Amino acid sequence: MKTKKNFLGVGFIGAGFITRFHIRAWVGVRKADILGIYDPDIKRAEQTVALARKLKVGETRVFKSITDMVADPAIDAIWICSPNYTRVEVMEEITEAVLKGKGQLIGVTCEKPLGRNVREARKMLQLVKKARLLDGYLENQVFAPAVVRGKEIIWNRGAKLCGPPYLARAAEEHSGPHMPWFWEGELQGGGVLNDMMCHSVEEARFMLTPPGASREVLTPVKVTAYASCLKWQISEYIDHLKKISGGKLDYQNRPSEDFARAVIEYRDQQGHILVVETTTSWCYVGAGLRLSMELLGPEYSLQVNTLDTSLKVFFSRRVKGKAGEDLVEKQNAEVGLMPVVSNEEHEYGYTAEDRHMVESFLDGQRPLENFDDGLNVTELLMTAYLSLEKDKTMPFPPPGLDKFVPAVAKGQWNPRKKK
Ligand SMILES: NC(=O)c1ccc[n+]([C@@H]2O[C@H](COP(=O)([O-])OP(=O)(O)OC[C@H]3O[C@@H](n4cnc5c(N)ncnc54)[C@H](O)[C@@H]3O)[C@@H](O)[C@H]2O)c1
Repeated sequence: MKTKKNFLGVGFIGAGFITRFHIRAWVGVRKADILGIYDPDIKRAEQTVALARKLKVGETRVFKSITDMVADPAIDAIWICSPNYTRVEVMEEITEAVLKGKGQLIGVTCEKPLGRNVREARKMLQLVKKARLLDGYLENQVFAPAVVRGKEIIWNRGAKLCGPPYLARAAEEHSGPHMPWFWEGELQGGGVLNDMMCHSVEEARFMLTPPGASREVLTPVKVTAYASCLKWQISEYIDHLKKISGGKLDYQNRPSEDFARAVIEYRDQQGHILVVETTTSWCYVGAGLRLSMELLGPEYSLQVNTLDTSLKVFFSRRVKGKAGEDLVEKQNAEVGLMPVVSNEEHEYGYTAEDRHMVESFLDGQRPLENFDDGLNVTELLMTAYLSLEKDKTMPFPPPGLDKFVPAVAKGQWNPRKKK
């Protein structure tokens, strides 16, 4: 591992949607520049490099391979932002390049989810340890200002006087992913449960954990989950998915869940019961992405709703223009009274997340949110899949968790075929 530095050169793997979010967030990140992007789609890599240069977040350039990027002495850390199905191969290439001495790094971060199942997430952790690198798990929502500030106030005031919170609710909902691979259970690892409940589960767990304490102070005890495909198995939407994927997506026969909920029961160190209740959907049609959060204790509560914005705009029916996502992520409409999230990168936590990862790497410290957290999240999600497949509450950890692959990730799940 490289030794401590006072400025970090960062390379991105993947030049898609989330990398562009990180680039926009980077204008609020200090002591680090984005110097490289690798993506097998060269055109996309060039477009994303152009965005980084336009925003002046570094002398960014396109790299031809992951190994080339690791080998560049200016690159100190890598952000893995390629699709879920590439996780392990990407981390293997980084590890091999480091172990063969082709280059030196300080650390690696990885977007959610850490793996499509427990075996993959554990492999990611093993590889990063083998390469002796610092590791950060990119769960932006635990860095979202409303979540961080809300936790601080609730624990400093309410919990201190009246006892700790006992219930955290979190929901992440939108009208469906932007790229076909997310919809394909095998490529993504599941449906909305894997794609979005990873956020809710971790954010809610973070809220229930006392400030400064590690995740070990809460022990998951049991998980109960439910999922279905409510919208995207209606014939007109089956046809739509077929069309956007060149015929590959077949939601008639191989759907993924577009609605999922889970209840996770935890115990704290005093033996108190704490509950996390999550809901996620790809069938929510509102102004756009809606992240909601509640934290409840004996004499207090907290609420977050990202669509409850201070800025709203109104366009009459005579304002006709192109469809876009200029007001909010996963925007659904262009007319009427609409909420605007004025700085999404900040509000959703990306800026603070990237700052924390950079500062940790510069200090030679393991980030507070790391691959251990990513693995734990995957373990909880896979237990949720086991619960819905067996139609019963599962103890945590359930037997066989390490080898379990959800039926949806094998193209074998279809709620319409249930008895
Ligand atoms: N934190 C969040 O809220 C959030 C939001 C969206 C996506 N994500 C995560 O980020 C990751 C990427 O999602 P996205 O929305 O940017 O997807 P995307 O499809 O928009 O972009 C992925 C990019 O990776 C490239 N790619 C494909 N194979 C590659 C490989 N082997 N090496 C390098 N690049 C490769 C593709 O060409 C594409 O440009 C996913 O794991 C996803 O779960 C997180």
